[in-house]
Amino acid sequence: MTRAGGSYGSPTHPHVRSRTMRKNRLRLAGVLAAVLVAVTGPAAQAHDKPPTLADLAERHGRYFGSATDNPELVDEPYKALLGSEFDQITPGNGMKWYATEPQQGVFDFTEGDEIVNLARANHQKVRGHTLVWHSQLPGWLTGREWTATELRAVLKKHIQTEVRHYRGKVFAWDVVNEAFNEDGTYRETIFYKTLGPGYIADALRWARQADPKVKLYLNDYNIEGIGPKSDAYHNLAKELKAQRVPLDGIGLQAHLALQYGYPTTLEDNLRRFAELGLDTALTEVDIRMILPATEEKLAQQAEWYADLTDACLAVRRCVGITVWDYTDKYSWIPAFFEGQGAALPWDEQLRPKPAYYAIREALR
Ligand code: G3I
Repeated sequence: MTRAGGSYGSPTHPHVRSRTMRKNRLRLAGVLAAVLVAVTGPAAQAHDKPPTLADLAERHGRYFGSATDNPELVDEPYKALLGSEFDQITPGNGMKWYATEPQQGVFDFTEGDEIVNLARANHQKVRGHTLVWHSQLPGWLTGREWTATELRAVLKKHIQTEVRHYRGKVFAWDVVNEAFNEDGTYRETIFYKTLGPGYIADALRWARQADPKVKLYLNDYNIEGIGPKSDAYHNLAKELKAQRVPLDGIGLQAHLALQYGYPTTLEDNLRRFAELGLDTALTEVDIRMILPATEEKLAQQAEWYADLTDACLAVRRCVGITVWDYTDKYSWIPAFFEGQGAALPWDEQLRPKPAYYAIREALR
């Protein structure tokens, strides 16, 4: 997962203005806190539970969520923060095809259900992830050839069984995940190769039949900025809308990396999807860096987290932000990118990092 470098911060760019405003807000917040302590004393302050990221996001009509995964749910301190700081959860793996239909026609929703039940207990909403993806498919599906007729039937059954199962329990589905290459051409997945590009419209229609209310999304990485890949989504979304195919939103994963530059066109990009009548969401945010994590890199990461929060808040139809798990303890990054990590707002000891405070500040 590599990304093209983005230009970052000419003095007149709105991005820079927003950072200056944030610094001013930070200064003001510091002064106000000092005044408050002087007036009320530190003891009075200790009783006021600070608002969570979810509380702060809610004031803007947005959610602030985290991904999680079943194996981590034995970690009680982890679970406590997951349950208190966020109002939205995405299962990192438990709703994927390999987990939910391990044998053809045999469905197993144990993992997804565990996360849905936990989320319900914590009054959190759940994003369904994901129905159609080229990765993490069961062996029975990838291990043989299919005719178009056969694969259409398999795909329809998978989508509709899973969507029906989670009807009323998830607010949105990543219906098709990662359908395009970096240059904006279709990814040659088993679905594309066997069914042609129409599999995307079919998947959306089948999902809509199974749940008339859930929000239906296409989701991908490296589409945060304007470029060939996000253009492909913009064009496809326009076509789908013209054909009255049910599509509600575009999920921008936002797996960013300090070494590749910040996507400075994020806000404009969110806006152009909104202009098509679509919601957007930042669905899998993390900002990795080449290790070791220095104070400087953590500060830059914090600024990027704040910047992407600002971008989402600036566009009414950007409905929320989800980090791809909240702590470096359970991040996917070190296993996939050698020598990289420290991508999340909490460190491996579940201590908040500068990024956490920067998000808070941006949400205020
Ligand atoms: O289930 C096996 C387990 O039986 C085995 O013992 C263990 C040993 O490695 O592996 C387990 O499978 C792992 C699986 O996660 C479940 O934990 C795979 O090795 C591992 O590759 C897989 O990684 C997931 C990855 O998707 C696969 O591409 C990550 O956890 C998950 O966070 C990540 O999520 C994706 C999104 O779905 C789509 N966007 C990109 C994002 C990051 O890759």
